[in-house]
Amino acid sequence: MIRHVPVMPGEVLECLGIDPSGIYVDATVGLGGHAARILEHLGPEGRLVGIDQDDEALAEAVSKLAGDFRVTILKGNFSEMRSLLASCGIDKVNGVLMDLGVSSLQLRATGRGFSFASNDPLDMRMDKTSGATAADVINHSSEKDIADIIFNYGEEHRSRRIARAIVRSRPLATCADLAKVVESAVPRTGRTHPATRTFQALRIAVNRELEVLPAAIDDAVRLLVPGGRICVISYHSLEDRIVKNRFRELGGTVLDIITRKPLAPSRQEVIANPPSRSAKLRAAQKMEQSAIDSGHSSHMRKGGKYNAQGKKKQEFGTRLSCEANSGSASGSRRLLSHLDSHEGDGGEV
Ligand SMILES: C[S@@+](CC[C@H](N)C(=O)[O-])C[C@H]1O[C@@H](n2cnc3c(N)ncnc32)[C@H](O)[C@@H]1O
Repeated sequence: MIRHVPVMPGEVLECLGIDPSGIYVDATVGLGGHAARILEHLGPEGRLVGIDQDDEALAEAVSKLAGDFRVTILKGNFSEMRSLLASCGIDKVNGVLMDLGVSSLQLRATGRGFSFASNDPLDMRMDKTSGATAADVINHSSEKDIADIIFNYGEEHRSRRIARAIVRSRPLATCADLAKVVESAVPRTGRTHPATRTFQALRIAVNRELEVLPAAIDDAVRLLVPGGRICVISYHSLEDRIVKNRFRELGGTVLDIITRKPLAPSRQEVIANPPSRSAKLRAAQKMEQSAIDSGHSSHMRKGGKYNAQGKKKQEFGTRLSCEANSGSASGSRRLLSHLDSHEGDGGEV
């Protein structure tokens, strides 16, 4: 079992305001760090559903949490949260946590392609069973598209120069190959590796991280009972802007915003757990009377798909297809819980 320290665990628990008999969704269960803390505050009637799209993370969450009869683990993309939960008979919950991005397991694991310091094949998919790999994107996209990805998702102003160097050096097979090409195009200046932003951009594109976020927030809010809470932890400004904007659009009519300004980890936490340094936590509570549940709300129609800058692109209602609930995690088991036997069919781990 991997030792893992969750980010801002105390703040998350406080923002979720756990009801011991409530149902909570950890939509990014990862290594089960936050999930384990939530379970400590749930009574025997409480339930926790953990979702992740990564088979290796799920296997770890299963080994950490599966012994607890209150836990259900589901494989899928959180953009399909409502249908995932419906598959085990749940249509209302008391709280949803989304701790975005990649886990330390994904960054460190060999063969995943998330780290520029590795010789891994350029993969970067969280769900290794579906979608294009980073190699597909790098080797088959136009120079302009590559530059746009690096600029929009990496906020890298030298994107055109990097894209040109990539196209000239194709085909690229490994993370080390790509890191070398980026470094040759934009030499190192400070302590940060010049390929950092390019790798972030590719990862976001491959996993469609920003595309699925607004719909996932809406799904989570729809799932909440009145008074239920949503907490989202983001790690870069692009995703935080999307969370901030969506909360703001729903604020005052559907949501009461709990965190006017995002919460950040304490100095002590950053020293003890450096990956927490860029975290921002935003939380909101569903109002007693909320138009979002009817699906006819003008507030919901105000929402939409967001581009990389978190600006709205098109009307709400567009759903992205996903592989939700379709895979079966290697080395993991069928859904393991109390809910499985008592409340419906369940999905597959
Ligand atoms: C930062 S980690 C979460 C760590 C977790 N909170 C813990 O304490 O162990 C993010 C996790 O979310 C998963 N993830 C990211 N985007 C996702 C999505 N759209 N749908 C489902 N899982 C996602 C990743 O695979 C990863 O395991």
